[in-house]
Amino acid sequence: RPIRLSQYRKPAHRVDRVDLTFRLHPSRTRVLARIAFRPDPEGPGGPLRLDGEGLRLIEAAIDGTPVTPLIDPAGLSVEAPDRPFLWEAEVEIDPAANTALEGLYMSNGMYCTQCEAEGFRKITYYPDRPDVMAPFDVRIESDLPVLLSNGNPGRAGKGFAEWSDPWPKPAYLFALVAGDLIAHSDRFTTAEGREVALNIWVRPGDEDRCAYAMDALKRSMAWDERVYGRAYDLDVFNIVAVDDFNMGAMENKGLNIFNARYVLASPQTATDADYARIEAIIAHEYFHNWTGNRITCRDWFQLCLKEGLTVYRDQQFSGDERGHAVKRIEDVQMLRARQFREDAGPLAHPVRPESYVEINNFYTATVYEKGAEVIGMLRRIVCEDGWRAGLDLYFDRHDGQACTIEDWLAVFADATGRDLSQFALWYSQAGTPRVTLSSRIEDGTLVVDLRQDVPATPGQPEKLPHAIPVALGAVARDGTEALATQHIVLTRPHETHRFAIGTGDAVVSALRGFSAPVVLDQPLSNPDRALLLAHDTDPFNRWESGRELARDALLRMVRDGAAPDPAYLDALGPVLADDTIEPAFRAMVLALPGDDDLARSLAEGGTVPDPDAIDAARRALALAVARRHEDRLAHLFDSLAEPGPYSPEAGPAGRRALRGAALSRLSRIDGGARARALVESADNMTDRLAALTALVAIGQADDALAAFYDDWKSDRLVLDKWFSVQVAAAPGDSGAQAAARLTAHPDFHWRTPNRFRAVIGALGANHASFHAADGTGYDLVADWLIRLDPLNPQTAARMSTLFDSWRRYDAGRQELMRAALTRIAGKTDLSRDTSEMVGRMLAE
Ligand code: ARG
Ligand code: ZN
Repeated sequence: RPIRLSQYRKPAHRVDRVDLTFRLHPSRTRVLARIAFRPDPEGPGGPLRLDGEGLRLIEAAIDGTPVTPLIDPAGLSVEAPDRPFLWEAEVEIDPAANTALEGLYMSNGMYCTQCEAEGFRKITYYPDRPDVMAPFDVRIESDLPVLLSNGNPGRAGKGFAEWSDPWPKPAYLFALVAGDLIAHSDRFTTAEGREVALNIWVRPGDEDRCAYAMDALKRSMAWDERVYGRAYDLDVFNIVAVDDFNMGAMENKGLNIFNARYVLASPQTATDADYARIEAIIAHEYFHNWTGNRITCRDWFQLCLKEGLTVYRDQQFSGDERGHAVKRIEDVQMLRARQFREDAGPLAHPVRPESYVEINNFYTATVYEKGAEVIGMLRRIVCEDGWRAGLDLYFDRHDGQACTIEDWLAVFADATGRDLSQFALWYSQAGTPRVTLSSRIEDGTLVVDLRQDVPATPGQPEKLPHAIPVALGAVARDGTEALATQHIVLTRPHETHRFAIGTGDAVVSALRGFSAPVVLDQPLSNPDRALLLAHDTDPFNRWESGRELARDALLRMVRDGAAPDPAYLDALGPVLADDTIEPAFRAMVLALPGDDDLARSLAEGGTVPDPDAIDAARRALALAVARRHEDRLAHLFDSLAEPGPYSPEAGPAGRRALRGAALSRLSRIDGGARARALVESADNMTDRLAALTALVAIGQADDALAAFYDDWKSDRLVLDKWFSVQVAAAPGDSGAQAAARLTAHPDFHWRTPNRFRAVIGALGANHASFHAADGTGYDLVADWLIRLDPLNPQTAARMSTLFDSWRRYDAGRQELMRAALTRIAGKTDLSRDTSEMVGRMLAE
């Protein structure tokens, strides 16, 4: 049943050229394929084997002679000559009935495709594996006005259009779109002098919400030329926004397809966070043109080859555009919330998994986000020169190929002469390493002892030590830098490092910039942390120190019923008052660790987390912050109001973030007065949603929610926010009832993944509500997953991971969660996607 990395075999047949004709019809689309095959002398030989699912074969021929292949549920086999030959096949498919949103499907009357990872086999018979690459010619026949596919446009006329993609590509990068669409257009001239026509295609009415995505695209194109020397390679670059989409977006060659929420933005409908995500995802998909498309993956086990590197690149881009300090903090917060959680539970897997049942289940935080961290560590280890030389060699040596992680590491080994065999363990060992650090100062020498442990994970009881880059410095008691940043690489289980230092008393600031994806265990007192919060030269550790103070305060409140720690409240004061510190950074210092994060800390420390107690503690600490700093917060709220029209730039966005953070604290003591005023006066969605969220969190939002619904009921993306905020921000466990009520709302179009996630995903994001002690949260999620699974297995399987931490909780909740999982597992005809996930979560 599972597919294994160790069982990789070369394909028996290669493809020289693909020629496709689509006769579009909602329920009876005909796909005519002419495919030039050639046996690969290095392949295993045998008959022609093609993948195909849910296809009705009308006729097939080899070199013009009709053939009758042997058809099974996964594809077909047929005898073929031992020389190059032409395969011709006509199949019929039903896009209107395709609710899984994989292959060719329909969304609001528009045809679109999603082929990664294995959707092309639902379009025609083909060797649907990424190491089979070919140029594609496509003809689309339809009366719809806009007909798009990959590559450059060819002939077009009444009822048809032709496209030709000269760059050999795997089938997962194929795309087709047909519909009544409007373009927002622009141009870009590449460094090589190529004139590229840029188009963002949207439904009529959305064309005035494309300007920001277009701007982000042009900046991405210029950035990849400037930073990596990579220019675009076709005459057109098309982006299409679709409403029904399982993921964020897809990098199809020359025809990126996006979830509409990651394209469309206007000040009135999108928040600053939406703008930032649009910028990052536009960049991500564009950057795939080189890291993913020109150089692709040999097989799906190598997914991190393209995803880890491309996430790393989009993070660098966003940092360059918006500021690195805040971007790094955001990325690490996300990594910890999603990837550390994954690594600590039953779904833990290496950055390069070794087996899977359904590959769609491995588009995970580990492959993407930890994959990006591994790239960042590699860069730190090979240093700047090695990084540049390695990448140049990578693009040079592997352009046009389908590659492996071994190929990737070999370019750095070859370019720098380094042995990267220990570093390679980051790709094969799952689990978050724990680094324990202790230090002392002896006659002008700082002595740092480091130890590493890599925890056992499913299927991997024993681990070898990793190569862990640790950036560390030290801050003297007077707040000056006692030791500038040192870069060491920990390679053994225990190591001691010595540094000359000019003071007898200093606090070690370790893992600066979060130099490795590990848990750092360093016994710092709260005064030490306050010192780093006030004075560390490393912005990440400055924030981290504040975060650790907050965590410590909260954990003592939850565990021992302690009162809010005055030391934490004191330490916040100078940061809030210091106008030389970036507002966005101060907003992040004010934010408290999330409930799930605290639950993980408690579980790791041997305490069973009580969701209600965690929620109560977090609210009590927020209230204490508000009381203690009321004047400063009120001053921030008043003084940070942006004059003039809205701009999505990082500067004003950061000021809005700090103002919103102040508002959410103040709302706990002003009865919601400020938020109620702002929700009415706001001229942009960022402020309006911040105010609405603050009101929901104090249970005072009924009128504001009704007004918001009236204003936005016909706007699908804004309505998603209306659904989501009521569940995600609901106080205590009330989000479970809110979600139950909203799933009965006439606008709950649950077949649309964005709307499903807006309610069910939001419930999962509200810790105290999902974990409501009576199990109503669990049952609601399980009911809806059971309902969604037969229609859209991919989204159902992904959402089932909400249960992955079930073993952390008390016996009562464990029993309820196990029962919910067992109920899902017991459903007849459960998809392969969901049954793999549920099976892994229930495994002993
Ligand atoms: N390659 C796309 C991206 O990173 C994601 C596509 C995921 N699709 C899937 N079916 N798992 O950006
Ligand atoms: Zn990607």
